[in-house]
Amino acid sequence: MDSALDFHSLRALLEWQVELGADEAIGDVPVNRYEVAAQAAPVLAAPAVPKQAPAATGGGSDAVAAARKAAQGAGDLEALRAALAGYEHCELKRGARNLVFADGVPGARVMIIGEAPGRDEDRAGRPFVGRAGQLLDRMLGAVGLSRAENVYITNVMPWRPPQNADLKAAEIEMMRPFVERHVALAAPDIVVLMGNAPCQTVLGKQGITRLRGEWTEAWGKPVMPMLHPAYLLRMPGAKRAAWADLLDVQAKLREGGI
Ligand code: URA
Repeated sequence: MDSALDFHSLRALLEWQVELGADEAIGDVPVNRYEVAAQAAPVLAAPAVPKQAPAATGGGSDAVAAARKAAQGAGDLEALRAALAGYEHCELKRGARNLVFADGVPGARVMIIGEAPGRDEDRAGRPFVGRAGQLLDRMLGAVGLSRAENVYITNVMPWRPPQNADLKAAEIEMMRPFVERHVALAAPDIVVLMGNAPCQTVLGKQGITRLRGEWTEAWGKPVMPMLHPAYLLRMPGAKRAAWADLLDVQAKLREGGI
């Protein structure tokens, strides 16, 4: 059998594409497979050109100034959600199905900030509901935390980036005022930053594998950078480090004075 076409090779290729973020088997134009099959000569498919994520609209100082104004004008979490829903400077909004604002208990002592919604979150309109989110729920459960009872969860970006692309610097800049306001209004005791995008947004730093596990501070609150659960799904060996970080969060919650 041609090894390039055997079941296992095809499956590995497919998994590799899924890993890269190709999570929907659709193209830009519909293909009538009956017509394709009826053609005598084989038709070479056009090379798959990955779609470019659209540049953030405007970006720059206008977008950031508008974000600051909108965020500062929000007096509570519902108003902040509405301010984001009305914010027109982020191009990602146009490709998203839903605004993914937050989940869990507003006012909980622990607030988790992730990166951006993926496909499942975009569909559900709730953060961390896909595989990474399910792992996150199991991890939290292991230290007595849950979004049903004592955790509040959001993301830096409320709209899904196409192909789950990393957030651009301009997108992070325009979301920073919303994230800051979100933390101020949710008023947690501890903030957990999951992955590089929230570290860049809140701490102005990247390099999660170096930053993780060390308490730092923002807005006078203890902040714990942690490995993202999606990373843990790819690198199960890193779960030990994430477990240690969660135990630190649990210990901090039990300490007096915060
Ligand atoms: N990854 C994130 O950072 N946030 C989500 O909501 C889902 C996956």
